[in-house]
Amino acid sequence: MTVDRIIFFTGKGGTGKSVISAATSLLLSELGYETLIISSDPAHSLSDAFGVNIDREITRVRDGLYAINIDPVKEAAQHYGVLMDYIASIFRSRGIDEIIAYELAAMPGMTGVATILKLDEIMQKYSFDSIVVDMVPSGEALRFLYIPSLMGKISRRFLKLVSPIAGVSKLLEPVVGVPAPDKESIDKGLEIVDRIERIKNYLLDHDVTSIRLVSNPDTFSVNNTRRTYIQAVLYGLNPDLIIVNKVLPKALEGTYLSEWVASQVKLIGEVENTFHPIPIRRLKLFDRELRGMDLLLEAAKEIYGEDDPAKVFYKGSGIEVRHGDGFLEIIYPVRHVSRENMELERIGDELLVTLYTDMGPTTLVIPLPAITYKMRLKRAKLINNSLHLIFIEEGSVDG
Ligand SMILES: Nc1ncnc2c1ncn2[C@@H]1O[C@H](COP(=O)(O)OP(=O)(O)OP(=O)(O)O)[C@@H](O)[C@H]1O
Ligand SMILES: [Mg+2]
Repeated sequence: MTVDRIIFFTGKGGTGKSVISAATSLLLSELGYETLIISSDPAHSLSDAFGVNIDREITRVRDGLYAINIDPVKEAAQHYGVLMDYIASIFRSRGIDEIIAYELAAMPGMTGVATILKLDEIMQKYSFDSIVVDMVPSGEALRFLYIPSLMGKISRRFLKLVSPIAGVSKLLEPVVGVPAPDKESIDKGLEIVDRIERIKNYLLDHDVTSIRLVSNPDTFSVNNTRRTYIQAVLYGLNPDLIIVNKVLPKALEGTYLSEWVASQVKLIGEVENTFHPIPIRRLKLFDRELRGMDLLLEAAKEIYGEDDPAKVFYKGSGIEVRHGDGFLEIIYPVRHVSRENMELERIGDELLVTLYTDMGPTTLVIPLPAITYKMRLKRAKLINNSLHLIFIEEGSVDG
């Protein structure tokens, strides 16, 4: 199997993931890359955007461009059917109604994993130069990309361990009180783990896979993008570009919308500070919906300019997270900060850091990873152009 580039687009609902994915794939094909775009959007946005009916089979959109709209629920049923039967049988053995048992067996994130498995299946069968993935609108969407790093060897070892005793454990069923998994469930489990591990190598390779974050210039969307960005970094993925979409044109200054224009300018400035050094591209709000090849190509050219969308726009660590025994260090690049003078406030799962920059005070909102909930901030210091935040386990005396 070969694929040179996998580009994921993610962002809050309605920000423009589908149209920007479509526009990107179109420009890629225009530049001569054999490109596939995968969407799991139940709203059939790709069909709308391209004006071509796209279904569950790989469909040719035009020369060098193919698209598929997968149904993650059906995929999940196909891949996990056997496992679900087994898990449901456990619940049923506890006297839970069959319908509820299946509801419980359909674990959250499963449809996301199904998308990943589909990507693997496609890569086994076909060769493309680039694959663009239009992700589902969920703040947690990235979590499933991390499943490969979560699973891996441990579960395989476990499954290998229980596989030979599948028959024996049937005998123990009355003793243990839980239905034993049959050989088929275990083999299926092993196969899934293998496939996830295979695809993981691609997803965590920063020369192959990039995550592009689509945001709108409004506070909610920008906050969501910050969180997704940190999650992506924590998960070992490479966010290489931020696209701020639906930017109001300057021409609207002095009109009914001038307040909006001003607040967008301010927000985009903040976005530049927050995400520095990840590059940021903008796309204006068009005067109509983004549909059809011509408009999509125009949008793609506005985003990428003379650049090749297949290039890796940024690599290396924007944010760095170091993690050891009882401590966690977040290293956050900052700009134009001349004085070691800051105010810190921890509110819920965020840390607000006010820094005094050459351009006046600026506040960074840093979403904290879940592991810090049980830690306290021990120290914050500026070293060169980086803010180092050191968290240590609650109750630890060191410090
Ligand atoms: N720059 C733009 N100018 C004009 N219309 C836009 C622009 N970007 C997106 N749209 C329109 O906004 C709507 C939402 O876009 P899109 O479906 O791509 O968002 P999405 O993030 O994929 O949404 P969902 O979260 O529902 O999947 C569409 O009607 C699209 O045509
Ligand atoms: Mg969409």
